[in-house]
Amino acid sequence: MRHRFPVLETERLVLREPRRSDAELCLAAWGDEETMLYFGTEPLATRAQALEQIRDFRDETSSGEGIRWIITERGRDEYVGDIGFFDYAPDHARAEIGFLLAKPLWKRGLMSEALTATLGYGFSVKNLHRVEALVDPRNAASLRVLERRGFHREGILRDYEFERNAFIDLALLSLLRKEWEARSAPGLSREAAGPRDCSAHRAAGT
Ligand SMILES: CC(C)(COP(=O)(O)OP(=O)(O)OC[C@H]1O[C@@H](n2cnc3c(N)ncnc32)[C@H](O)[C@@H]1OP(=O)(O)O)[C@@H](O)C(=O)NCCC(=O)NCCS
Repeated sequence: MRHRFPVLETERLVLREPRRSDAELCLAAWGDEETMLYFGTEPLATRAQALEQIRDFRDETSSGEGIRWIITERGRDEYVGDIGFFDYAPDHARAEIGFLLAKPLWKRGLMSEALTATLGYGFSVKNLHRVEALVDPRNAASLRVLERRGFHREGILRDYEFERNAFIDLALLSLLRKEWEARSAPGLSREAAGPRDCSAHRAAGT
Protein backbone atom coordinates (compact mmCIF):
# COMPACT_ATOMS: atom_id res chain seq x y z
CA MET A 1 0.00 0.00 0.00
CA ARG A 2 1.31 3.44 -0.87
CA HIS A 3 1.29 5.82 2.11
CA ARG A 4 0.47 9.47 1.74
CA PHE A 5 3.43 11.82 2.23
CA PRO A 6 3.20 13.74 5.54
CA VAL A 7 2.85 17.42 4.64
CA LEU A 8 3.97 19.68 7.51
CA GLU A 9 2.83 23.28 7.94
CA THR A 10 4.38 26.08 9.96
CA GLU A 11 3.50 29.73 10.21
CA ARG A 12 5.35 30.68 6.99
CA LEU A 13 6.15 27.35 5.35
CA VAL A 14 4.67 24.23 3.85
CA LEU A 15 6.93 21.16 3.76
CA ARG A 16 5.82 18.69 1.11
CA GLU A 17 7.01 15.77 -1.02
CA PRO A 18 9.77 16.21 -3.64
CA ARG A 19 8.61 16.49 -7.29
CA ARG A 20 10.47 16.37 -10.59
CA SER A 21 9.27 19.93 -11.23
CA ASP A 22 11.43 21.06 -8.26
CA ALA A 23 14.60 20.28 -10.24
CA GLU A 24 15.20 23.74 -11.65
CA LEU A 25 15.05 25.63 -8.35
CA CYS A 26 16.85 22.79 -6.61
CA LEU A 27 19.65 23.24 -9.15
CA ALA A 28 19.82 26.99 -8.43
CA ALA A 29 20.23 26.30 -4.69
CA TRP A 30 22.43 23.19 -4.84
CA GLY A 31 24.47 24.73 -7.64
CA ASP A 32 25.50 27.79 -5.64
CA GLU A 33 29.14 27.70 -4.57
CA GLU A 34 28.67 29.63 -1.31
CA THR A 35 25.67 27.52 -0.26
CA MET A 36 27.62 24.30 -0.85
CA LEU A 37 30.84 25.51 0.78
CA TYR A 38 30.48 23.35 3.90
CA PHE A 39 27.85 20.95 2.65
CA GLY A 40 30.13 18.03 1.90
CA THR A 41 29.30 17.59 -1.77
CA GLU A 42 30.26 19.44 -4.93
CA PRO A 43 27.72 22.01 -6.24
CA LEU A 44 25.33 20.55 -8.80
CA ALA A 45 26.08 21.65 -12.34
CA THR A 46 23.31 20.30 -14.57
CA ARG A 47 19.55 19.81 -14.64
CA ALA A 48 20.15 16.07 -14.98
CA GLN A 49 22.05 16.07 -11.68
CA ALA A 50 19.22 18.00 -10.04
CA LEU A 51 16.69 15.47 -11.32
CA GLU A 52 18.85 12.70 -9.91
CA GLN A 53 18.93 14.54 -6.60
CA ILE A 54 15.13 14.76 -6.54
CA ARG A 55 14.94 11.05 -7.37
CA ASP A 56 17.32 10.31 -4.47
CA PHE A 57 15.08 12.34 -2.16
CA ARG A 58 12.08 10.31 -3.24
CA ASP A 59 13.96 7.01 -2.98
CA GLU A 60 15.06 7.93 0.53
CA THR A 61 11.42 7.98 1.56
CA SER A 62 10.20 4.97 -0.39
CA SER A 63 13.10 2.78 0.80
CA GLY A 64 12.43 3.63 4.44
CA GLU A 65 15.99 4.96 4.89
CA GLY A 66 14.68 8.41 5.67
CA ILE A 67 12.37 11.14 4.48
CA ARG A 68 13.08 14.40 2.67
CA TRP A 69 10.72 17.35 2.52
CA ILE A 70 10.81 20.17 0.01
CA ILE A 71 10.49 23.49 1.82
CA THR A 72 8.08 25.95 0.18
CA GLU A 73 6.79 29.33 1.29
CA ARG A 74 3.12 29.36 2.16
CA GLY A 75 1.06 30.33 -0.90
CA ARG A 76 3.99 29.74 -3.32
CA ASP A 77 4.32 26.08 -4.08
CA GLU A 78 7.93 26.12 -5.23
CA TYR A 79 11.27 24.82 -3.93
CA VAL A 80 13.14 27.14 -1.56
CA GLY A 81 15.03 24.43 0.30
CA ASP A 82 14.91 20.93 1.67
CA ILE A 83 15.19 19.16 4.97
CA GLY A 84 14.97 15.58 6.12
CA PHE A 85 16.09 12.54 8.03
CA PHE A 86 18.43 9.94 6.60
CA ASP A 87 20.48 6.94 7.77
CA TYR A 88 17.46 5.88 9.82
CA ALA A 89 18.40 3.17 12.33
CA PRO A 90 15.02 1.81 13.50
CA ASP A 91 16.53 -0.60 16.05
CA HIS A 92 18.06 2.38 17.81
CA ALA A 93 15.27 4.90 17.06
CA ARG A 94 17.94 7.16 15.61
CA ALA A 95 18.31 9.23 12.45
CA GLU A 96 20.54 11.94 11.04
CA ILE A 97 19.14 15.27 9.92
CA GLY A 98 20.24 17.49 7.04
CA PHE A 99 18.98 20.72 5.48
CA LEU A 100 19.65 23.44 2.94
CA LEU A 101 17.95 26.76 2.17
CA ALA A 102 18.23 28.91 -0.97
CA LYS A 103 20.60 31.82 -0.31
CA PRO A 104 18.14 34.70 -0.95
CA LEU A 105 16.11 33.47 2.04
CA TRP A 106 18.89 33.11 4.61
CA LYS A 107 18.72 34.75 8.03
CA ARG A 108 14.97 35.14 8.26
CA GLY A 109 14.48 32.31 10.73
CA LEU A 110 13.02 30.05 8.05
CA MET A 111 15.26 27.04 8.60
CA SER A 112 14.68 27.29 12.34
CA GLU A 113 10.97 27.08 11.59
CA ALA A 114 11.40 24.11 9.24
CA LEU A 115 13.69 22.36 11.71
CA THR A 116 11.20 22.73 14.54
CA ALA A 117 8.47 21.15 12.44
CA THR A 118 10.70 18.35 11.22
CA LEU A 119 11.97 17.50 14.69
CA GLY A 120 8.42 17.49 15.98
CA TYR A 121 7.54 14.94 13.30
CA GLY A 122 10.62 12.83 14.06
CA PHE A 123 10.11 12.69 17.79
CA SER A 124 6.35 12.67 18.10
CA VAL A 125 5.22 10.80 14.96
CA LYS A 126 8.18 8.54 14.16
CA ASN A 127 9.07 8.06 17.79
CA LEU A 128 12.77 8.78 17.35
CA HIS A 129 14.90 8.71 20.47
CA ARG A 130 17.93 10.54 19.09
CA VAL A 131 18.51 12.85 16.13
CA GLU A 132 22.06 13.61 15.13
CA ALA A 133 23.80 15.99 12.76
CA LEU A 134 27.29 16.01 11.30
CA VAL A 135 28.45 19.54 10.57
CA ASP A 136 31.61 21.12 9.26
CA PRO A 137 32.89 23.08 12.31
CA ARG A 138 33.35 26.14 10.07
CA ASN A 139 29.64 26.14 9.22
CA ALA A 140 28.57 28.76 11.78
CA ALA A 141 25.04 29.10 10.39
CA SER A 142 24.28 25.40 10.61
CA LEU A 143 25.75 25.05 14.11
CA ARG A 144 23.74 28.04 15.27
CA VAL A 145 20.45 26.75 13.84
CA LEU A 146 20.98 23.37 15.52
CA GLU A 147 22.17 24.69 18.87
CA ARG A 148 19.29 27.17 19.04
CA ARG A 149 17.00 24.12 18.77
CA GLY A 150 18.73 22.40 21.65
CA PHE A 151 21.32 20.22 19.91
CA HIS A 152 24.45 19.45 21.94
CA ARG A 153 27.92 19.35 20.47
CA GLU A 154 29.33 15.93 21.38
CA GLY A 155 32.77 16.25 19.86
CA ILE A 156 34.85 16.37 16.74
CA LEU A 157 35.22 13.45 14.35
CA ARG A 158 38.78 13.98 13.18
CA ASP A 159 39.55 13.78 9.44
CA TYR A 160 36.15 12.16 9.06
CA GLU A 161 35.49 12.88 5.38
CA PHE A 162 37.56 13.45 2.28
CA GLU A 163 36.15 16.57 0.62
CA ARG A 164 37.62 18.65 -2.15
CA ASN A 165 41.02 16.96 -1.94
CA ALA A 166 41.40 17.20 1.81
CA PHE A 167 40.35 15.30 4.91
CA ILE A 168 38.03 17.41 7.04
CA ASP A 169 36.83 17.23 10.63
CA LEU A 170 33.10 17.07 11.35
CA ALA A 171 31.33 18.11 14.53
CA LEU A 172 28.84 15.58 15.88
CA LEU A 173 25.72 17.08 17.42
CA SER A 174 22.68 15.37 18.86
CA LEU A 175 19.28 16.03 20.36
CA LEU A 176 17.52 13.45 22.51
CA ARG A 177 13.80 13.00 22.68
CA LYS A 178 13.65 13.92 26.40
CA GLU A 179 15.49 17.17 25.67
CA TRP A 180 13.06 17.95 22.86
CA GLU A 181 10.09 17.20 25.10
CA ALA A 182 11.46 19.40 27.88
CA ARG A 183 11.76 22.28 25.41
CA SER A 184 8.26 21.67 24.03
CA ALA A 185 6.60 21.61 27.46
CA PRO A 186 3.58 23.86 27.98
CA GLY A 187 4.58 27.38 28.91
CA LEU A 188 7.48 27.51 26.49
CA SER A 189 7.31 29.54 23.29
CA ARG A 190 5.09 28.32 20.49
CA GLU A 191 8.21 28.08 18.35
CA ALA A 192 9.33 25.09 20.36
CA ALA A 193 6.13 23.19 19.72
CA GLY A 194 5.76 20.43 17.16
CA PRO A 195 4.42 20.64 13.63
CA ARG A 196 0.94 20.50 12.31
CA ASP A 197 0.87 17.29 10.29
CA CYS A 198 -1.63 17.78 7.54
CA SER A 199 -1.64 14.29 6.15
CA ALA A 200 -4.32 11.74 6.81
CA HIS A 201 -1.79 8.93 6.89
CA ARG A 202 1.82 8.67 7.90
CA ALA A 203 4.64 8.16 5.43
CA ALA A 204 6.53 4.99 5.19
CA GLY A 205 10.14 5.50 6.13
CA THR A 206 11.63 7.43 8.96
C1 LIG B 1 22.40 26.72 7.57
C2 LIG B 1 21.19 27.39 6.91
C3 LIG B 1 20.15 26.35 6.58
C4 LIG B 1 20.58 28.40 7.91
O1 LIG B 1 19.31 28.81 7.43
P1 LIG B 1 18.62 30.18 7.89
O2 LIG B 1 17.19 30.11 7.55
O3 LIG B 1 19.42 31.31 7.37
O4 LIG B 1 18.81 30.13 9.47
P2 LIG B 1 17.91 30.96 10.50
O5 LIG B 1 17.54 32.28 9.88
O6 LIG B 1 16.84 30.09 11.02
O7 LIG B 1 18.98 31.28 11.63
C5 LIG B 1 19.08 30.53 12.83
C6 LIG B 1 20.18 31.16 13.67
O8 LIG B 1 21.42 31.06 13.01
C7 LIG B 1 22.01 32.35 12.85
N1 LIG B 1 22.69 32.40 11.56
C8 LIG B 1 22.15 32.27 10.34
N2 LIG B 1 23.12 32.39 9.41
C9 LIG B 1 24.27 32.60 10.09
C10 LIG B 1 25.62 32.79 9.69
N3 LIG B 1 25.97 32.79 8.40
N4 LIG B 1 26.56 32.96 10.65
C11 LIG B 1 26.22 32.94 11.96
N5 LIG B 1 24.95 32.77 12.42
C12 LIG B 1 24.00 32.59 11.47
C13 LIG B 1 20.82 33.29 12.87
O9 LIG B 1 21.21 34.60 13.24
C14 LIG B 1 19.96 32.63 13.91
O10 LIG B 1 20.46 32.91 15.19
P3 LIG B 1 19.49 33.50 16.32
O11 LIG B 1 18.42 32.43 16.48
O12 LIG B 1 20.35 33.64 17.49
O13 LIG B 1 18.94 34.78 15.78
C15 LIG B 1 21.60 28.14 5.63
O14 LIG B 1 22.61 29.05 5.95
C16 LIG B 1 22.06 27.21 4.53
O15 LIG B 1 21.26 26.65 3.78
N6 LIG B 1 23.40 27.03 4.40
C17 LIG B 1 23.96 26.21 3.34
C18 LIG B 1 23.63 24.72 3.45
C19 LIG B 1 24.20 24.12 4.72
O16 LIG B 1 25.30 24.41 5.14
N7 LIG B 1 23.38 23.22 5.33
C20 LIG B 1 23.75 22.54 6.55
C21 LIG B 1 24.66 21.40 6.29
S1 LIG B 1 25.12 20.60 7.81
